[in-house]
Amino acid sequence: MAHAACRTGSPAEKPGGQATPGATRDPRRYSRPESPVGALNLWDDGLHPTEYMTETLTFLGIAGSLREGSLNRAALRAAQGLAPEGVRVEIFDLGGIPLYNQDHEAEPPVRVAELKARVRAADAILLVTPEYNYSIPGVLKNAIDWGSRPYGDSCWQGKPVAVMGASGGPLGTGRAQYHLRQCFVFLDMHPVNKPEVFIAGASQKFDAAGNLTDEHTGKSIQNLLVALAAWTRRLR
Ligand code: FNR
Repeated sequence: MAHAACRTGSPAEKPGGQATPGATRDPRRYSRPESPVGALNLWDDGLHPTEYMTETLTFLGIAGSLREGSLNRAALRAAQGLAPEGVRVEIFDLGGIPLYNQDHEAEPPVRVAELKARVRAADAILLVTPEYNYSIPGVLKNAIDWGSRPYGDSCWQGKPVAVMGASGGPLGTGRAQYHLRQCFVFLDMHPVNKPEVFIAGASQKFDAAGNLTDEHTGKSIQNLLVALAAWTRRLR
């Protein structure tokens, strides 16, 4: 496993903003730049129109911790500031999502309905997982389970997804991330394979205010976002 390690300086934070319902298919989000030479049609060059696509992709980031000082939530906030050109990272907080109960899946709690709508509106998902007892925290698994039901109405189906995670241990959530990847099989999500971002010894990589201070970690997160953007466009 490759380990993410060191960054100095805190990234500028970008505003998260709200999800735009149905944004994935909104044609206004696609624009081809003006041809630079007046009437000369430089677009008639055999390239697929997507070569010129300047669509902004929306990634929905979900951290599997409710903790105020969560390092995973801090890593997700850092990802907002590290998003490459053409990518916006929004955040959905898992606070307020009750424990899954199949009796209520046909008419789910409000926060669950919100989660599913936000996931559906996003172009791709960024999951930021802590590691609890060598696996995924219940908070995250619970949200995944809600989103996957009722059977046949999963919000996760077909979504591109990337994973990263921060823990105090030396493997930086590697074991939890592989458990999470196992879930993607049944969920029929499309994970980015690499880079793998394991933020080990995480308490050393953020300052007291939760700002990322480790340069290598920042670069790894940015590389992951770039890979997710390329993957999302490729899957279209
Ligand atoms: C942990 N922690 C932990 N760390 C790890 O590397 N491997 C593990 O298996 C576990 N197991 C574990 C279980 C439980 C119940 C807790 C509360 C903690 C430590 C964990 O990685 C650390 O507390 C992180 O900081 C938790 O993530 P947040 O809340 O900071 O995002």
